[in-house]
Amino acid sequence: MKKELPPKPFLFPMPAVLVGANVNGKPNYLTVAFCGIMNLEPPMVALGLGRSHYTNPGIVANQSFSVNVPSAAMAAAVDYCGIHSGHRVDKSQVFKTFYGKLATAPMAEEAPLNLECKLIQVVELKADNLFIGEIVSAFATDDVLTDGFPDPLKLDPLCFSVTDRKYYRMGAEVGQAWSMGKDYQPR
Ligand SMILES: Cc1cc2nc3c(=O)[nH]c(=O)nc-3n(C[C@H](O)[C@H](O)[C@H](O)COP(=O)(O)O)c2cc1C
Repeated sequence: MKKELPPKPFLFPMPAVLVGANVNGKPNYLTVAFCGIMNLEPPMVALGLGRSHYTNPGIVANQSFSVNVPSAAMAAAVDYCGIHSGHRVDKSQVFKTFYGKLATAPMAEEAPLNLECKLIQVVELKADNLFIGEIVSAFATDDVLTDGFPDPLKLDPLCFSVTDRKYYRMGAEVGQAWSMGKDYQPR
């Protein structure tokens, strides 16, 4: 028997990422859990951002932003960027910033994986704005790679639960995708 719940954004796991943008000539990072991949080729990412954030005009002005995937060990720094707004606090020095080919999307050196994004579209939703970006480059530290690509267990990404507002780690491998279902017998 299912229990009906209120319609809340109950999706698990949610990533807790750092979105970077240059605002008023300085890097600014905010924490975002409403983040997901939307298109495979070219790879696109979408962010649900509250309209009042300091970051938003910087994304529009530069037509770029970054998605920085932190490790679980970075949880306190990530939380800091989600508590404090650039409207009141200068977050430009929280991370060591580097730039890629767009030269306007600040990326956090400390995050093991960084996605450099070109802004494609802003969609106004009821409360938030959806920022859709194309991933134009990706950067990763060597120690999170296996055979040249990001390894989720090495990355140890930070996950967020909207229910209890806590951070979690990813669990263990379950099996091979596009393979485990081959012999599955539906009832
Ligand atoms: C765990 C966590 C997840 C968050 N997820 C989002 C999100 O998905 N979208 C959003 O607009 N704000 C989110 N926030 C809130 C912003 O990070 C926060 O308001 C931040 O101070 C805005 O920074 P800015 O004003 O410098 O842009 C989250 C905060 C935390 C702590």
